[in-house]
Amino acid sequence: MNNFFTRVDNLSRLSVEKHNVAFSLFDWPAHIAEDTWWQSPDVLSIALTDHIEQWDEAQLIKLAKWECINSFSLNYTGELELIQEVSRILDKVALSDAREYLYHLIDEENQHMWYFQKFCRAYGGKVYPNKKFQIEKQLMSPAKEHFLVFARILIFEEIGHYYNIQNARDSRVHPFVREINEAHYKDESRHIAYGRQVLEHLAKDAITDEGDALWLGQQLDKSIAINIAALYNPQAYRDAGITKGMALRESLLNHPNRIELHETKLLGSFKRHAERLGITLTDTRK
Ligand SMILES: [Fe+2]
Ligand SMILES: [Fe+2]
Repeated sequence: MNNFFTRVDNLSRLSVEKHNVAFSLFDWPAHIAEDTWWQSPDVLSIALTDHIEQWDEAQLIKLAKWECINSFSLNYTGELELIQEVSRILDKVALSDAREYLYHLIDEENQHMWYFQKFCRAYGGKVYPNKKFQIEKQLMSPAKEHFLVFARILIFEEIGHYYNIQNARDSRVHPFVREINEAHYKDESRHIAYGRQVLEHLAKDAITDEGDALWLGQQLDKSIAINIAALYNPQAYRDAGITKGMALRESLLNHPNRIELHETKLLGSFKRHAERLGITLTDTRK
C-alpha cells in the first residue's frame, strides 16, 4: 500500500477505536447561565479591535452567547451540507480503498450535527439559517467537482478547528461548551488529516490543463469569502442587542487585524496546503 492508503487506513482504524457515541456522551445541563461565557472572549468577532476595549463585560458576555449559537449553527448547517455532498459523490469519487473513511466521516458528522443543533435549540431557542455555499452548477469535470467538494469541506473544518481549540482551552468558558468543543476538536483532527491527504490525491486529476489551478483558486476564493462572512452574523448582533449590526459587520470584515486573523490563524494552513498543490489563493491583506 502506498503512503496515502496507509495513512487513510490508520485514520479509519482510529475512528473505530475512538468511536464515541455522542448521543450518550454528554450530560446535558438544564440551562446555561446568561452571565457565563458561552465562548471565549478571544474568539468574539470584535476581538482584536477597539470594540473589545470599549464594551463592558455584560455586553461582551451577551455577544459571546449569540456568537456561540452562530458558531454552532454554522457547524450544524455546514455539516448537513457536507453529508449531502459527500453522499452525493460517495460512489463516484476516485478514492479506491480510501473511500472506506467516508463512512466514518458521515457517521461522525451526523453525530456532530445532532449535538450542535440540539445545543442551539435547547439553549438559544433557534438555529441560525445559513446561505448555501454549494458548488455553482457549472460544467466541470467530475475530477474538478470532487476536488472542490473536499477542498470546501477542508476550508470549513480548518476555520471551525480554530474556534474549537480556543474555546476548549479557555477556562473562562462554560464547562459544557468547552466539553463540546473538545469532543468536536478530537474528531475534526482526523477529518482534517484526511482532507489534506485526499486533496493531494485528487489534485492530480483535477489539475490537468493550463488554467485549471487558476480556475480552482477562483472558486475556492469565493468559498473562503462566504465562510469568513458567515462569522459576522447580523442576526447574532441583533440578538446581542447591537442596533447597527450590518455596519458593524462591514467594518469588522475590513478591519486589518481581523483580516490578518483570517489569513493566518483561520486559513493559513489551508492556503499553504493549496499552494503546495499548485493553487494560489488571493491574499486579502494586499
Ligand atoms: Fe464536525
Ligand atoms: Fe469534520
